[in-house]
This record gives sequence, C-alpha cells and structure tokens, in this order.
Amino acid sequence: MKGIILAGGAGSRLYPLTLVASKQLQPVYDKPMVYYPLTTLIEGGIREICLISTPQDLPRFQQLLGDGAAWGLRIEYREQARPEGIAQAFLIAASFIGPDAVTLILGDNVFYGGESFQKTFGEFNTGATIFGYHVKDPERYGVVEFDASGQAISIQEKPKEPKSNYAVPGLYLFDNHVVEITRNLKPSARGELEITDVNVEYMRRGLLRVRRLGRGFAWLDAGTSSSLHEASAYVQTIEKRQGIKIGCPEEAAFRRNFLSLAQLESLAEKMPRCEYREYLVNEVIAEAKRLAN
Ligand code: G1P
Repeated sequence: MKGIILAGGAGSRLYPLTLVASKQLQPVYDKPMVYYPLTTLIEGGIREICLISTPQDLPRFQQLLGDGAAWGLRIEYREQARPEGIAQAFLIAASFIGPDAVTLILGDNVFYGGESFQKTFGEFNTGATIFGYHVKDPERYGVVEFDASGQAISIQEKPKEPKSNYAVPGLYLFDNHVVEITRNLKPSARGELEITDVNVEYMRRGLLRVRRLGRGFAWLDAGTSSSLHEASAYVQTIEKRQGIKIGCPEEAAFRRNFLSLAQLESLAEKMPRCEYREYLVNEVIAEAKRLAN
C-alpha cells in the first residue's frame, strides 16, 4: 500500500496566515499540521509516501520532511500546478502508485482515537474503503447516507440539503482501479476532479465499504481559523492530560518498527533542547528501555 498526502490549495480561508506559509505548515498546537496526516499513514503501516503540493509550497515541505529516510520512510514529491481537485492526485502520482493500492489523506485532516485505523489498513484488500463521521454541519463535506441495515446508499459533495449527518473524512483507501476510474472522470461544475465522484463510481460497482467512526474518535479539519484553533486546543488538552503526543512521526515510526531504538535515540540527540525532544527521550525512549530490561 502506497500513501499520498495532498497538501495543495491556496489556503485562502486562512488568509493572511497563508501569505507566506501554506496551510498544511501552520502549527496545530506544537507541530506543523502535516505531521498529523503523516503520522496517520505511518500508524497504518505505510512507508512509501508521495506528498503533493503547489509549485510554490513544495520546496518548504521538502525542507521539512526530506526524503523520509531519517524516519524509515521514502517520501517523494509532486506538483499540483492548479487546484483541479482532490482526485487529480491519482493522475499526478500515477507513476508513484504503480501497480499498488493507495491511501490518500488530506494534509489538513487530523485523526485521533484508538486502533481502529490500523485494523482497517491491515485488512484492506480490494475496492475502496472510506469513513463516515457524525458532524453538526454535514453540508461542508461529502455526505454519506445509510439505509436501515447500515448499508451506504448515496454520497453527495457538499449538498445543500444533506441526507444524513455523516461526513466523509479526508482519508480514503483505494485499490489500483482508482487510477483508471479517475482517468475517466469529468470535471465537476466547479472545474475539479471530485473525490466524491470516485467514491460514487466504486459504489456503483458494488465495491465501496463505508466504516462509521464511532464516539470517542476525533476527526478535526483545520482549514479555517476557528477549526485550526479548535484542533490546537484539542491536541493540547489530550497531550497535557495524558502526557502522550498526537501526530509525532518519530514515535509512530518507532512503534511500527520502521526505526530501531538506536535510530530513534540518534534522531532525538540531533534535536535542539525542547519539549518535543524531552518527550521522545523521557517518555518514548525511556519506556522502551524499561520494557527491554
Ligand atoms: C474535501 C472533499 C469532501 C470531504 C472533505 C474532508 O472538501 O471534497 O468530500 O468531506 O474534503 O475534509 P474540501 O476540503 O475541498 O472542502
């Protein structure tokens, strides 16, 4: 399974924050936003990742994440020259995807909660798997409707009159047919290749699974000033209470055995003295040493 992080867009809803730094590089509490979706992919066991962004912003992401080798990953970069839709990512990254299945995650989506994703990633085989999450304002999102037996029966992009409260978060698992499906899509009225149209096509073929994310699971999008602030407040609350970090790629890579303990220690040693390093040294590394003895 390959992974794509889509970190494009003008970030106009966050203006003037996004005048000099892209949306997905803004801080969500104590880390750049893109660390969160990156960590979600790592937790899902994905090591080969393609980050897609605008020509202006791509160099910043390269500066931040490099080739991923330090974290036991391989990260490639591709440009999305114009905002022509989420599904365009599959065309831009077609040579990266090759013959494999692919998970797409949006660079401004923050997920937190339990082990349920790891199971979904591990079990994924064919077709498409997407998620449904109960929200108050479904009209802002792709909306999935279920029948009485829990079967998904429709998906609509930002409907004026939503048929349910279940929004489709920006995390999608597809088999290799996604490339061919996207090649045959027509741009929507707003001139974009819509991810919702990809999902509708999988549904038409009878190959779409929609997993409902239950209570206790957090999905936050950080695309507006208030949702950005709320995401930061959420992360701060959990981290302060639990003494664990959300969205820490070094820790996730270590727990997934992409990094050895010695490699994690040497990464931490290179960091400046800061709270992030203290966490890795005093919590993650110390705990691993305790357990090894
Ligand atoms: C996009 C998708 C939408 C999905 C949302 C999740 O919306 O088009 O279906 O529910 O991401 O964040 P956009 O970010 O373009 O508003």
